[in-house]
Amino acid sequence: MNLHRSGMNERKILVTSALPYANGSIHLGHLVEYIQTDIWVRFQKMRGHTVYYVCADDTHGTPIMLRAEKEGITPESLIARVHQEHLKDFTGFHIQFDNYYSTHSAETRFFSEDIYHKLKNAGLISVRAIEQLYDPVKNMFLPDRFVKGECPKCGAKDQYGDSCEVCGAAYAPTELKNPYSSVSGAKPIQKSSEHYFFNLSDPRCADFLRRWTRESDHLQPEAANKMREWLGEAGENKLSDWDISRDAPYFGFEIPDAPGKYFYVWLDAPIGYMGSFKKFCEQKRIDFDQFWQKNATTELYHFIGKDILYFHALFWPAMLENSGYRTPTKIFAHGFLTVNGEKMSKSRGTFITAESYLQQQLNPEWLRYYYAAKLNSTMEDIDLNLDDFIARVNSDLIGKFVNIASRCAGFITKRFDGKLVAGAQYQQLRAIIDEHFANWRPELIEKAFEEREYAAAIRQIMKFADEANEVIHQLAPWEMAKKPNQEEELHRACSLGIQLFYLLSCYLKPVIPGTVEKIEQFLNTQPLAWPVLTESQSVSHLLLPAGHAINAYQHLMTRIDAKQIDALISANQQSLLANDKANDLKQNNQSAQAQQNVAPIAETITIDDFGKIDLRVARIAHAEQVVGAEKLLKLTLDIGSEQRTVFAGIKSAYDPEQLKGRLTVMVANLAPRQMKFGLSEGMVLAAGGSNPGELFILSPDSGAQPGMRIK
Ligand code: MSP
Ligand code: ZN
Repeated sequence: MNLHRSGMNERKILVTSALPYANGSIHLGHLVEYIQTDIWVRFQKMRGHTVYYVCADDTHGTPIMLRAEKEGITPESLIARVHQEHLKDFTGFHIQFDNYYSTHSAETRFFSEDIYHKLKNAGLISVRAIEQLYDPVKNMFLPDRFVKGECPKCGAKDQYGDSCEVCGAAYAPTELKNPYSSVSGAKPIQKSSEHYFFNLSDPRCADFLRRWTRESDHLQPEAANKMREWLGEAGENKLSDWDISRDAPYFGFEIPDAPGKYFYVWLDAPIGYMGSFKKFCEQKRIDFDQFWQKNATTELYHFIGKDILYFHALFWPAMLENSGYRTPTKIFAHGFLTVNGEKMSKSRGTFITAESYLQQQLNPEWLRYYYAAKLNSTMEDIDLNLDDFIARVNSDLIGKFVNIASRCAGFITKRFDGKLVAGAQYQQLRAIIDEHFANWRPELIEKAFEEREYAAAIRQIMKFADEANEVIHQLAPWEMAKKPNQEEELHRACSLGIQLFYLLSCYLKPVIPGTVEKIEQFLNTQPLAWPVLTESQSVSHLLLPAGHAINAYQHLMTRIDAKQIDALISANQQSLLANDKANDLKQNNQSAQAQQNVAPIAETITIDDFGKIDLRVARIAHAEQVVGAEKLLKLTLDIGSEQRTVFAGIKSAYDPEQLKGRLTVMVANLAPRQMKFGLSEGMVLAAGGSNPGELFILSPDSGAQPGMRIK
């Protein structure tokens, strides 16, 4: 029946999706990519190929370091938490990775150092000093997006260091007027430091990339055009060397023999593909080299968004080629998601997180189906139109697909002991199917999936479903059931419905695997494989065997109710409101600073005066409301050697839940004070403005431990 490809045709394929950053939640935009990849992987696995799908969190870089610091936790614990969140979201949407790992791993470190050494030995690494903006308070170099100021063109305030969101101008961070560090608020200074570069301008790189772009469609046509633009004509040297180092403090891998210098996050991110696969190979005893050595005959595909083409089509193949590894077979770039024709927007509630979608009890397979119905192999953006989403899913999945089963299964169970027709009846059924579907070309579905033309595949499948419904409608088993002496016809008509439903389920399985798992139970079959016809066979060769017994029909999928979508949008607007409050506070604080609206500095003290105060790093072990208190929260502070109870007047600015686990700073030798609600054994430090609620408790830099003295 379902012929698997013979061993000789079996392909060995390694597939990746881009590694999501570990400082944000998965949203419906991300899911375009993971769903697109997962459908392709499931399709190839169903055809019997050996396919591995790996991914990981992209864990390094300044934003992750700063976010951890802000939360008062180590970057390691931040990325561990986010890893769990991401995995939960992906599992919820039936994204089936063979391994979901982290770039903060021994394997990724190993390959980062290995590739770096090989590039260095090839003479492709150089070192030179560059000038950058530096935060003199926070003692760190500032990535462009952490410098803000007035746009040099239009004067708009609070613009990022690389471009203006108001007038669209692009500039260097050093051109901003009245620049400030968004980390500390301080005015940045220019400072020089040594950086490591990958010499992309070396002719070896440009020549190789030109060849690679020309050869065997590694890239989609639009992507290849972009590459030609970036590379210029032969002889022209348009590529600049790539800065691959960052100075401490940085969360990442330290560069060997370069203390205080770290690999830039984009150096180790794609290497994370190798790291994740290496880990998987070790667990499963798979030959890693077969997939990564030079001239490997296995296939390697990277699914990515169009925004990161530069990294995957330029830097990545050049790095691999010059360090003695294989290069990707193909890079598949997709477009961006819009919702109702516009960029996802927090204020409109269309910046929808994966978590909120699942929490609102929406079926993940609705979205998988809708994306499939919209996706093709180009870099065009795709639109999630919410009204169309409801209409399309309800009409296709419920109206055309699930209905076939729900209309036919009951009779099979009640009247025919759960068995489909056998013997001569089965032959008649086959003849009906071959007659109605003589022009049916299932290989078009296969081709469309292979080429990532999912919209075309879905069109073919739904055409088949329409035709199936038409045949069933003509036969009208529900009419036959009312009449005596039509038992045979009824049995045949319903068996035909179930057989066609089975075939449709095979084709839809890569898209809605969760529903098809229920269908396998209902149809009483092995996990469905991809149906394959030889040249001489007709459609009826693909059917379930004569007399096959099915189980009672169970509910497969509900319709989308518009109310559910409304609830989803408003849930995402709600969570924005909570974030906005925090942002507004921050902004007020910044403008207060700009106006120099600060209390005068107190009287001078000596170092001895200061030395009398014993300040300690404290972990907020517990925080709770105090019944009857207007301003106070009750904190339990862990200072290593002991725990202290402190009543702090920070209720207007903090939720107890927000505080638990955070590190802060306390005065540890303040005389205990009896308060109305209990004994307070110290004080936490907080900065305050003049407005109520404008209160900010202090956090030490990451790495500090409870009990450390502050000097
Ligand atoms: N960490 C990098 C990728 C490193 S790969 C070695 C990154 N992370 S990301 O979280 O910003 O994005 C992950 C993937 O999701 C990227 O391929 C990106 O293009 C894709 N998408 C993120 N937002 C998207 C939409 N709104 N629409 C479609 N895809 C989007 O980039
Ligand atoms: Zn501007």
